[in-house]
Amino acid sequence: MKQPPSYETPALREFGEVLKSRRTIELFLQTLVPEALIDEAIETAIWAPNHHVTEPWRFYRLGDATKQYCLDLCRDIVAAKKGEKAADFKRQSWSEKPGWLVVTCARSDNELLQQEDYAACCAAVQNLTLYLWKAGVGTKWTSGDITRHPRFFEIIGMDEHTEFVVGLIWYGYAKLTPTQSRRDVNDVKIELP
Ligand SMILES: Cc1cc2nc3c(=O)[nH]c(=O)nc-3n(C[C@H](O)[C@H](O)[C@H](O)COP(=O)(O)O)c2cc1C
Repeated sequence: MKQPPSYETPALREFGEVLKSRRTIELFLQTLVPEALIDEAIETAIWAPNHHVTEPWRFYRLGDATKQYCLDLCRDIVAAKKGEKAADFKRQSWSEKPGWLVVTCARSDNELLQQEDYAACCAAVQNLTLYLWKAGVGTKWTSGDITRHPRFFEIIGMDEHTEFVVGLIWYGYAKLTPTQSRRDVNDVKIELP
């Protein structure tokens, strides 16, 4: 049998480092992210694997006016659950998230197709976040209460009968990059004969 080509290249090491070093960012600098970069990231996202190539994703980029409506909604959601003080605190912290992108998935009556489409959307989000990370831009993917709130669908103009929210993705340059850990690979890897 022929020997495989060497895979130990600096490019592969660097690629792996990008994948491993991406972190969920909580605190962002108030620096504008170029719109063209977000366009590129979305263009990269849609090359995610997608069974039957249904292309079930949609990407809603929120402008300042739309963000304000979301902040008001966020405040109302938290106020109902945890009171006024917590609501004001949350609204303030959310107002510091520079970029807002909502990724949705097409609804399907077919359970298997729905599962596959959701998986494809998640792969697309990961493409997007990694592309941005390599460009120095951090993200936070949230699936919090707001992403299931009917008023949120109204604000972004999404038809909840035909789509659902995969995630609200905040993006911006990181003020702080947290550390994270994962289990040892040998704890999650199962070798079969
Ligand atoms: C589908 C999905 C939903 C998430 N939703 C939330 C969320 O609602 N709130 C939150 O703090 N983090 C959320 N996260 C981010 C995770 O908490 C984060 O990925 C995890 O802490 C690991 O950190 P890392 O991304 O830096 O490796 C979500 C991640 C995924 C994949």
